[in-house]
Amino acid sequence: MEQSFDLSPELAKQARYEAFLPRLAALIEGIDDEVAVLANTAAALREAFGFFWVGFYRAEGGDLRLGPFQGTVACYRIRKGRGVCGTAFAEGRSIVAPDVELFPGHIACSSLSRSEIVVPLFSTGSDRTVRGVLDIDSDRPAAFDETDRCWLERIAALISETIY
Ligand code: SME
Repeated sequence: MEQSFDLSPELAKQARYEAFLPRLAALIEGIDDEVAVLANTAAALREAFGFFWVGFYRAEGGDLRLGPFQGTVACYRIRKGRGVCGTAFAEGRSIVAPDVELFPGHIACSSLSRSEIVVPLFSTGSDRTVRGVLDIDSDRPAAFDETDRCWLERIAALISETIY
């Protein structure tokens, strides 16, 4: 398998996501191994966008547990409702934190993190349970906007259709 996610540095954010989505779809198509899909998705997102930290927390026993990621070491467990991840998990919706210091209960896994986006992954069954979250941190303030939210939700849906 030879698949490059090294997209042209000239591409604007929207064009970058447009190029990324079909490549990710081809990368994970037909793979039913949850860890493998999450690990390769984190690696692809890191390569294509150069995110400071990108990875997954999975729902387990009512909390979130650290899953596959790319970046600096991170906390193992996040309680439901705590921090950006735990809030997105509890409320079943995406959260953009332009300044993590202003987000109530933010959990600082790295002091370099300045802004963050968290997008839930839902099961594809009729219950729409939150199975986990995609968490992306930037070392720049206000790095994420509606374009990121919209495309990352599509990416989350693609992952869910593949493994959940
Ligand atoms: N900052 C997150 C915790 C996870 S780390 O950023 C990887 C939060 O407040 O939920």
